[in-house]
Amino acid sequence: MSSRIDDLVEEVVPLAGRDVSLLRPHSGDELLDEEAFVHEEFLPYWAELWPASRQLAAAMAGRSLHGARTLELGCGLGLASIAAAMAGGHVTATDWAPYAIEFTVRNARRNGLEVEGLVCDWAHPEPIVERAPWDLVIGSDLLYERRNLPLLTDLLPRLVDQRGEVLIADPGRPLESAFLEDAAKRFVVHSVQLSEKPRVRLHRLRLHGQ
Ligand SMILES: C[S@@+](CC[C@H](N)C(=O)[O-])C[C@H]1O[C@@H](n2cnc3c(N)ncnc32)[C@H](O)[C@@H]1O
Repeated sequence: MSSRIDDLVEEVVPLAGRDVSLLRPHSGDELLDEEAFVHEEFLPYWAELWPASRQLAAAMAGRSLHGARTLELGCGLGLASIAAAMAGGHVTATDWAPYAIEFTVRNARRNGLEVEGLVCDWAHPEPIVERAPWDLVIGSDLLYERRNLPLLTDLLPRLVDQRGEVLIADPGRPLESAFLEDAAKRFVVHSVQLSEKPRVRLHRLRLHGQ
């Protein structure tokens, strides 16, 4: 691995009867750099394993994806992508943070799985739009900043066709309801609660018209 981050800790996540082993930086704070902070970009949110990703991964692990072309947005450390690959998906994991992609690909290999990694910003999504339609698009804890909302609500309908499915897990971020309101303009939305504490809901989006 070419990473300059060498203070790593292992996180073991039980999933579908096996232990998934992930490496993550010991502390995201150490990854803050002044320039990133000024631009409010590349803050190291990718370096933590957020509760919604554990829930999304558990939901993925319960599926049989039979080679479904699966795209993860904002993959962070890659747990949900790894779970989708375990479930038989052909997975492309994306994030705008290059380190997130590096860790995700490495974490997948660590568990004997192949996940393709691609650096991609929702503001410049051509690389993933060109490869649409995806069978399945997944993401966890993506609704934490207002600027993400128009980017995601514009992007998601461009990634799937009427056979495709989008699954977004959210831990009750304040922007969740605004996202759902926007999403309902293009998608039929079905939401289920995955966990109580922390409260995580999974939103299943399918384009209108089927
Ligand atoms: C709160 S973290 C969640 C990470 C992971 N999904 C999880 O639940 O553990 C949000 C993720 O979205 C990524 N992200 C934020 N804005 C993005 C953008 N404009 N384009 C692509 N990825 C972005 C961050 O780098 C980070 O990995």
